[in-house]
Amino acid sequence: MTPDLLQEGSQRMEAHARLAQQGQTESGGRQAGFGRVAQPGEVDVTHGRILYLEDVSVSFDGFKAINQLSLDIAPGELRCIIGPNGAGKTTLMDIITGKTRPDHGTVFFGSTIDLLRYREAEIAQLGIGRKFQKPTVFEQLTVFENLELALKTPRDVVAAMFFKLDSAQSDRLLEVLGTIHLTDCASRMAGNLSHGQKQWLEIGMLLMQSPKLLLLDEPVAGMTDEETERTAELFLSLKGKHSLMVVEHDMSFIQSISDIVTVLCEGSVLAQGTLDQVQADERVIEVYLGR
Ligand SMILES: Nc1ncnc2c1ncn2[C@@H]1O[C@H](COP(=O)(O)OP(=O)(O)OP(=O)(O)O)[C@@H](O)[C@H]1O
Ligand SMILES: [Mg+2]
Repeated sequence: MTPDLLQEGSQRMEAHARLAQQGQTESGGRQAGFGRVAQPGEVDVTHGRILYLEDVSVSFDGFKAINQLSLDIAPGELRCIIGPNGAGKTTLMDIITGKTRPDHGTVFFGSTIDLLRYREAEIAQLGIGRKFQKPTVFEQLTVFENLELALKTPRDVVAAMFFKLDSAQSDRLLEVLGTIHLTDCASRMAGNLSHGQKQWLEIGMLLMQSPKLLLLDEPVAGMTDEETERTAELFLSLKGKHSLMVVEHDMSFIQSISDIVTVLCEGSVLAQGTLDQVQADERVIEVYLGR
């Protein structure tokens, strides 16, 4: 465990002990809260973080794409990541999803899952969904079939052919269709959708897996203004139910969705705060906004 987590834990224990003395804990003063049994597959967010990176570095041919990067995200948070081209934003997502192994550092999902011990496919199974910039929906299938397919396990082709949704899965599919504003397009071929609708469908396919953390790399690139506004509404509706990390260059989009904005530059955090705060930061203006 990192010193940071240890300190937070000890502060929590002190606070809990004070409350316990006064009989004010949920357990009426007993120490039950410390005996939590870890549930397999459950992400432990009792320390208030769903994602935690500390001192992470990765080099490509001697070039430090990520340089002593530390960052954490709270459960249900929508975190925006901005920064100049080549800052390391996509590489950061590659590290979280297991596509790239860092040379150094710590990457935790909740407080107990060390992501560096898992492969890319396993990390997706743990509940981390990733949306790349280019939509990758199945153009020859309907919207409905695309969402249905997102539930199937590709390992077993025969099982996938005879796969039938159970009622909970059907309910989930209808709910996701509504969330991504494609209820009226359920029977349309995905290939006939607009660029923005394809992007929403792909987000819907991720949502079918009920991810705890969603990583979205330049989700509104190529969208019309109206599609961008709709996407902002969609992300705000996902906040709280999921944790989101959104990388974007579109500042008006960032403005409409952001709470905390992290500015990456040369593989490290240059600044962090509200959009107003980071936009007023001289260093941020120099390396990014003032271009
Ligand atoms: N697999 C790789 N092999 C070699 N170099 C890489 C690799 N991945 C990333 N890089 C380099 O690392 C740096 C960071 O790239 P990254 O794609 O993370 O930037 P970014 O912040 O996403 O930029 P953009 O805003 O243009 O998408 C770049 O200089 C890039 O060329
Ligand atoms: Mg990128």
